[in-house]
Amino acid sequence: MKYTVEMVSSEEIFEPAPKPEKKKAVRLDPNAGKSKQEALVERKELIEKGGGQRLIDKQHQSGKMTARERLEKLFDPGTFEETGMFVRHRCTNFGMEDKYTPGEGVVTGYGQIDGRTVYAAAQDFTVMGGSLGEMHAAKIAMAQEAALKVGAPMICINDSGGARIQEGVDALAGYGRIFFNNTKASGVIPQISVIMGPCAGGAVYSPALTDFIFMVEKTSQMFITGPNVIKSVTGEIVTSEKLGGANTHNSVSGVAHFACKSEDDCIKQIKELLSYLPQSNRAEVPVKETKDSADRVDEKLNDIIPDNPNKSYEMYDIIRSLADDGEIMDVQALYAKNIITCFIRLDGKTVGVIASQPKVMAGCLDINASDKASRFIRTCDCFNIPLLTIEDVPGFLPGTNQEYGGIIRHGAKMLFSYSEATVPKVTVITRKAYGGAYIGMCSKHLGADTVFAWPKAEIAVMGASGAANIIFAKDIKAAEDPEAERANKIAEYEGTMMNPYVAASRGYVDDVIVPADTRKKLIKAFKALEGKQQDAPFKKHGNIPL
Ligand code: HXC
Repeated sequence: MKYTVEMVSSEEIFEPAPKPEKKKAVRLDPNAGKSKQEALVERKELIEKGGGQRLIDKQHQSGKMTARERLEKLFDPGTFEETGMFVRHRCTNFGMEDKYTPGEGVVTGYGQIDGRTVYAAAQDFTVMGGSLGEMHAAKIAMAQEAALKVGAPMICINDSGGARIQEGVDALAGYGRIFFNNTKASGVIPQISVIMGPCAGGAVYSPALTDFIFMVEKTSQMFITGPNVIKSVTGEIVTSEKLGGANTHNSVSGVAHFACKSEDDCIKQIKELLSYLPQSNRAEVPVKETKDSADRVDEKLNDIIPDNPNKSYEMYDIIRSLADDGEIMDVQALYAKNIITCFIRLDGKTVGVIASQPKVMAGCLDINASDKASRFIRTCDCFNIPLLTIEDVPGFLPGTNQEYGGIIRHGAKMLFSYSEATVPKVTVITRKAYGGAYIGMCSKHLGADTVFAWPKAEIAVMGASGAANIIFAKDIKAAEDPEAERANKIAEYEGTMMNPYVAASRGYVDDVIVPADTRKKLIKAFKALEGKQQDAPFKKHGNIPL
């Protein structure tokens, strides 16, 4: 039996689509002779089948779950409540008046994830390829607006062929409404985008406006123009996976934040991320009980910094040692690996960590690291998540690539983000803190509330050898044995400047601490800062260098 749009009654929350006269004669009513409740149940069952078994099977064969299966796994069992099930399109172009689109190709609603309210929209690829028309967009927009009113996170699962071509400008207007809502909700509620299929053209801009993007390896792609358009315009040949797959956007472009092995893995990671985030900018960060003692010391940290300042060490070892139960949630783990951005908990409470990674490019700051860190700092600040900066930075990366690429502008984002952030800010200098990068990595001068240094910290304008070569150039040149003199002068500079005590003598470092004690020092510092209040002067908004 063919189901047509005429079957749907006036109980619906939207006006029925206008129907051409000639269609009325062929109307069939499958609910004839049934009670209203029976008819309701059947209607819902029909909608829940989406595009039907053949397309559900096709979805499964391509390694993807259906929209409803995804939501069922994401939400606590039995808690997801669907809204707008009966919404339908009102397009009459190109035979659309006869096109039945169950649920309008997107499942929306609310429920509980680990006992906390979350709103969601999941595009249903089995219904017209999850394409987005006016009413599909209206459903997503209404879920966004509800999440914003309530103060709960919003998750949007993308699996769509993009703007529903038949709907023309109405589809584009729908995207516009979603982008507008994304922007309005930014900094108020956590917004999470999940790419579990195609997400192409302007459609990519809703995820791009949100706080976090998850992508699934092999089955998700994001791009503005696909491989065919690229080939015809530039002649380049590229696969869609290479162009816009999870690996590309996690490691090359930095568009995405999390790469997941499978949809199940993705859902697990979304839940983990939510466990670190508050419900909104008005809520406290969630607290996770821990048996990990706030007084725990870790003697291994006393030996982790090599004696040779040119040798690297693993910053993740330090972060894991400090974190409750050694647990971290790495954000953009595959991008700009010279800086680490991750969530940890200290004494049960979420802290956002920005840490140099001496193992990659010696922990230098470059364009990508500056962008990655700045974005993370602002994400934490808008959701009241305190910041911990762990610093071992020899400076900004030199080179024409960096200068031409605008390291000045990108590096400035870090200075701006740290200076603007009003959450508690604690910095630990483990080793190098040189020059502008010292300032930029949340120094006291950019508003750090508490700065700790380890005994091997070197807080200076630059490394000893470079400094000695400049300020003692004449002495070295005039010496009988210039190389011996150079070594003497380097040693003299090291002895005078390459330590934490000069900065500590000015009050730029609050305490020089035994590395093993860092966790307990941090927990005490953040506890003391819980009542921090810092008002900014009145402004509409700042003007971060973008
Ligand atoms: C209407 C669409 C559609 C679309 C897919 N379908 N995309 N219908 N508008 N945008 C329909 C197909 O006609 C088909 O219907 C069903 O969905 C499944 O699509 P298939 O092509 O059979 O699936 P598959 O082979 O898996 O290919 C998926 C796809 C492809 C790669 C996404 O469908 C595709 O290229 N679609 C068009 C993508 C596109 O150019 N979109 C516009 C982007 S521009 P039937 O009835 O046959 O089952 C854009 C602008 C947004 O989005 C601007 C915002 C500011």
